[in-house]
Amino acid sequence: MNWAIVAGSGLQRMAPSGERALRRVKTPYGDCFVLPWEEGGRRAWFLPRHGPGHRVPPHRINYRANIWGLHQLGVTRVLAASAVGSLDPSLKPGSLVLVEQFIDFTRTRPRTFFDEDRVHHQDMTHPYCPELSHLLRDQARALKLDLRAGAVYVCTEGPRYETAAEVRAFRLLGGTVVGMTAVPEVVLARELGMCFALVGVVTNLAAGLTEAPLSHAEVVARMSEQQELLRRLLWGVIATADEERRCTCGGK
Ligand code: HPA
Repeated sequence: MNWAIVAGSGLQRMAPSGERALRRVKTPYGDCFVLPWEEGGRRAWFLPRHGPGHRVPPHRINYRANIWGLHQLGVTRVLAASAVGSLDPSLKPGSLVLVEQFIDFTRTRPRTFFDEDRVHHQDMTHPYCPELSHLLRDQARALKLDLRAGAVYVCTEGPRYETAAEVRAFRLLGGTVVGMTAVPEVVLARELGMCFALVGVVTNLAAGLTEAPLSHAEVVARMSEQQELLRRLLWGVIATADEERRCTCGGK
């Protein structure tokens, strides 16, 4: 099984088998938890990134255990979904974006597998797999879904939401959306030669772009509404992708 779907807030019950079927995978970095998921004769691992019961906040997620665990299971291609706030008032809650770049404002997270033994500087010019991203765009078109491509994800440390001034700054920097989980997830996947693509689900306008205070309950509710759409989009990609990877994510 070389596919994995990684999902966060509001999506932890996305896989039909439910949390009771979660399997623990032991890694040198700690445990990760996955569910086997089968649709239309294809199989993938489902990894709820916040762990069983959605108890681990974004800044405490063991990203290394999650990605190493998938690698150990033989995963080479990851489709991920994350809740995001929109930095662009024209990009409303409920919109889907294809994340193509990130700007990293995280501070405290273990962020590499290359901490000791050897010096390795991962190329990150284009963090997300062009082949999977292309397949996501094609699949969105086939499903008549509006998926805004080219999104720049500003990753904050959390767990607090942003100030209005931070949101103004992120807009000036060229950000499209803001969230707390994109980094280091994609970086670690790339360090292990995995393909990784990310769909952002806009759950709210970012702080200061709306009068209403931000709430996690609102984020989870908006995200859950998109669960079925995401399932069709991500599985559509898995169902139509060739077995062979044609990108260079694997380092060949
Ligand atoms: N900020 C940070 N993370 C988020 C947001 C937000 O506005 N919405 C969903 N995740």
